[in-house]
Amino acid sequence: MKILAIETSCDETAISIIDGQGEVDSPNFDVLSHLISSQAELHAKWGGVVPGLAKREHAKNIIPLLDQALVGSKLKKEQEYTLSENQKEELKELFIHEIDLAEKFIEYIESISPPEIDALAVTYGPGLEPALWVGINFTKALGKVWQKQVIAINHMEGHIVSPLLENTKKIEFPAIALLISGGHTEIVLMRNWFDYKIIGQTRDDAVGEAFDKVARLLGLPYPGGPQISLWAEKETDPFVDLPRPMINTPDYDFSFSGLKTAVFYAVKDKKLSDKEKAHIAKEFQEAVIEVLIKKTFKALEDFGAKSLVIGGGVIANKALQEKINIVQREKYQDLNIFLPENSVITDNATMIAIAAYLHLKSGKVKRREMIEASGNAKIDQE
Ligand code: KG4
Ligand code: ZN
Repeated sequence: MKILAIETSCDETAISIIDGQGEVDSPNFDVLSHLISSQAELHAKWGGVVPGLAKREHAKNIIPLLDQALVGSKLKKEQEYTLSENQKEELKELFIHEIDLAEKFIEYIESISPPEIDALAVTYGPGLEPALWVGINFTKALGKVWQKQVIAINHMEGHIVSPLLENTKKIEFPAIALLISGGHTEIVLMRNWFDYKIIGQTRDDAVGEAFDKVARLLGLPYPGGPQISLWAEKETDPFVDLPRPMINTPDYDFSFSGLKTAVFYAVKDKKLSDKEKAHIAKEFQEAVIEVLIKKTFKALEDFGAKSLVIGGGVIANKALQEKINIVQREKYQDLNIFLPENSVITDNATMIAIAAYLHLKSGKVKRREMIEASGNAKIDQE
């Protein structure tokens, strides 16, 4: 089953085409195309993602990216495909706020025949609404002209299923999913497929956001996560004592803004040497890893979970991966851990396509008359 998915929730325009086979509990996927056009450099100047700018860049990149995806997957057939005046009017209405895009879209769509795919998928939230709308309208437009079903996918569900790309083990339930990205920090209990309950979350900053803010305090560029981990690697013995916020509270919640503030005071009015920067990066990273591990393993124990799934950009952090492996070897040998492979760790559309495949395969596609962007979409309110 071939699925073309589009993801525009933040500062990456991503399009993937996958061919999925197998049942929900043992799927496998051929990736026919996996494209990500990152705007990170553009937003770096502002120290974070600017929604209006993200929207404009998505609109600029999305047609060339679609073309590249179709060419790469050998699904592009150049052949005149004429739209009726009515269809064109409908498309212009759909792209009412991006009239330029409407014209380019019509020109492109009339130059190729509909590709042999079974369905379309798009991220509807959470994320930046102006950015999300570009992907949603674009995918809806494709659905209209190619007469394909459009499946709306929650971005966080995409991160949860991202480890399925390469894993052949079956996820056994109950499972705990740890979601750690630039916008979210959540512990989700999964009693079964698509049965999500958020049992813990951050009360202030997301963990990736904390990495980005601390990097900024240290004068390192955006996105800060990879920078902090690079600098932390230079240091073996941290000397600043940063707090481990909420590490012993009886819930599964997190708080990272106090940690950021502690770094603020540690660096305030100081000209840091490289050695000091590395110290702080290392200590910050250690503090984050300790609380993430403590709360995650507490949840695993409390709910008798058999699997741990981790998704979101922060799991790119090698020190965190290593620490999880150590804890598992020492104490939790029976636990199955599912981590995404590198290509699907940070935002991408392959994970959105995988989620759509699982929904289709299980017959659990939500019938949405209207697909709307939802900046704060929660995974357990599906
Ligand atoms: O999942 P993602 O690509 O986008 C969101 O949905 O937010 O996550 C991006 C976040 C950024 O905050 C980035 O700094 C962080 O993931 N990140 C890392 C690392 N690589 C990316 N954080 C810590 N260590 C890393 N190696
Ligand atoms: Zn993400």
